[in-house]
Amino acid sequence: MNYETSQSHTIFAVVFPSLSVRMLKGARHQDQSMSELWVERHRPQAVSEIRGQHAVVERLAVYSAKKEFPHLLFAGPPGTGKTTAAMALTKDVFGEEYRRNLLEMNASDERKLESIRTKVKQFARTSPYGGAQFKIIFLDEADALTNDAQGALRRIMEQYAETCRFILSCNYSSKIIEPIQSRCAVFRFRPLSDADVNAQVHHVAKIEGVTLDDDAGEALTRISQGDLRKALTALQVSSAINMHITRDLIYETSATAPPEALHQYLMACREDGFHAARRRLRELLDRYGLAGTDFVNQLHRELYTADFLNEDTKLDITEWMAEVEYRLVEGGGEQIQLDALTARLVTHLR
Ligand SMILES: Nc1ncnc2c1ncn2[C@@H]1O[C@H](COP(=O)(O)OP(=O)(O)O)[C@@H](O)[C@H]1O
Ligand SMILES: [Mg+2]
Repeated sequence: MNYETSQSHTIFAVVFPSLSVRMLKGARHQDQSMSELWVERHRPQAVSEIRGQHAVVERLAVYSAKKEFPHLLFAGPPGTGKTTAAMALTKDVFGEEYRRNLLEMNASDERKLESIRTKVKQFARTSPYGGAQFKIIFLDEADALTNDAQGALRRIMEQYAETCRFILSCNYSSKIIEPIQSRCAVFRFRPLSDADVNAQVHHVAKIEGVTLDDDAGEALTRISQGDLRKALTALQVSSAINMHITRDLIYETSATAPPEALHQYLMACREDGFHAARRRLRELLDRYGLAGTDFVNQLHRELYTADFLNEDTKLDITEWMAEVEYRLVEGGGEQIQLDALTARLVTHLR
């Protein structure tokens, strides 16, 4: 998805400023330098190494053992292991030489179905390498295809069903047309549990030789919301600044305010009046590098843990946050919208 690529590119530039300049100058360096991303370096190589996703892993392990499977559809939020699972299964089935039997495409790069058709045709023309029964076509982010394109994809899947298995991935299975869904075994990936995210960030930190404080691990877990790509990227970004990673460092480098900072803002609205609360909000936006929408979303997440507010108040605040968020997304000015929110909070809470 565009968001993911642009995000990982910016982060890449933060972590490796010199490398990324070189990368722009010569694509030659790309492979080499991309392998420096921790998300790539610590990507599970076999189905059995995937964290969490027990329901998925159990079923995929059967395919790995039998070296046979139907068309597959992987659905779920970003950073939960869909691409990882597709690659791991392919490696389990074909071993070292798996690349010869794998065609990997990203539907959001290749929106024109014609280019997909041409590639599939070329790929399917030669027989599977090493006496394998079939080849694998992995179409990542298939929900980027229009319904018409998906219709054509369905025909391609049928045409090459003898020699090829398709693995499709998407964020929402509802965006995949029914005739494709019904031809695939559907696997639902869930956001990873806090325990799994925490375990993996500590695992990676150990291998990379960084000291990760326990509460920093918890902060990573909190900001990732079950997205391991996000957690590992934030870990790497922080480690580029300091090899001893503290909770503060995580929050300051990941555009996330810690819960207490958000609570202090609410408290200031109640106790200190408009100007003081507004100042606190400015400081918070600066320190953690938040945009207005980030702030409103993070405040939303942390509102319900503010036990100094009663239930009715929280319900009112929720409505106001929703209103401000909508206006911001629609292009309302950030300063005035946030001031309006602060004004309302001060009036209501004092
Ligand atoms: N279930 C998982 N177990 C272990 N690592 C994972 C898992 N999910 C994601 N990761 C890590 O996050 C990175 C991105 O995961 P990926 O499989 O590409 O996510 P997506 O679901 O968006 O395709 C991987 O390279 C890996 O390092
Ligand atoms: Mg993916």
